Amino acid sequence: MSLMRLAYASEATFEAKPVEKGVEPHVARILMTSRKNNAKDQLVGGLYYGNNCFFQYLEGEENAVRSTYDRILKDDRHRNIVTLIEEPLGSRTFSNWSMKYVPLSRDVRKFLDEQGLESFEPASFTSDQCEKMIELIRNSSHDQNMVNHHDRKSVGETPQVLSSGMKMGLIAAGLVLVGALVVGGSML
Ligand SMILES: Cc1cc2nc3c(=O)[nH]c(=O)nc-3n(C[C@H](O)[C@H](O)[C@H](O)COP(=O)(O)O)c2cc1C
Repeated sequence: MSLMRLAYASEATFEAKPVEKGVEPHVARILMTSRKNNAKDQLVGGLYYGNNCFFQYLEGEENAVRSTYDRILKDDRHRNIVTLIEEPLGSRTFSNWSMKYVPLSRDVRKFLDEQGLESFEPASFTSDQCEKMIELIRNSSHDQNMVNHHDRKSVGETPQVLSSGMKMGLIAAGLVLVGALVVGGSML
């Protein structure tokens, strides 16, 4: 069983929806699917989305990386996919992230400044810039809980905060309270 790593750059085909906080909804959906599938396939890596472009890094079993990449290549949510790294890997280098997400952050801006780049255009990254970007994703400490929270909201799932039993209990308590107020009011 051999390991490999892969990085590519691509251009999003969707129009980014402005979001105040959290993750762009299309990207949130991609992350949800990626996390589900990659965890099953023991793939790890990270995704960066900015300036309407993606940079993704994946590592794991060669067969799993290749079949995932085949699906990614056919996805019409992005185009102009440029493979930047595709090579064997001696041992895993990433912590256990099925797909870590990195938003446009101070770190990325600093990286662009250091490289003398005006905007994020990963398709023209040199191999050194790719390695630096991978390192940045590896070390990113962005709160991934926030990503999951917005993933859920953006795909329309309602988080089940209250069980139906608790809801019924609250309704019953409300009715008792209203009844008590009515009775109390009529006694005044
Ligand atoms: C930029 C981008 C990155 C993606 N990354 C992954 C990934 O890491 N793993 C994955 O399974 N799917 C990824 N996808 C989604 C795949 O293209 C495809 O929609 C998905 O694997 C289908 O999974 P399903 O058969 O479980 O619906 C990505 C899509 C895009 C546009």
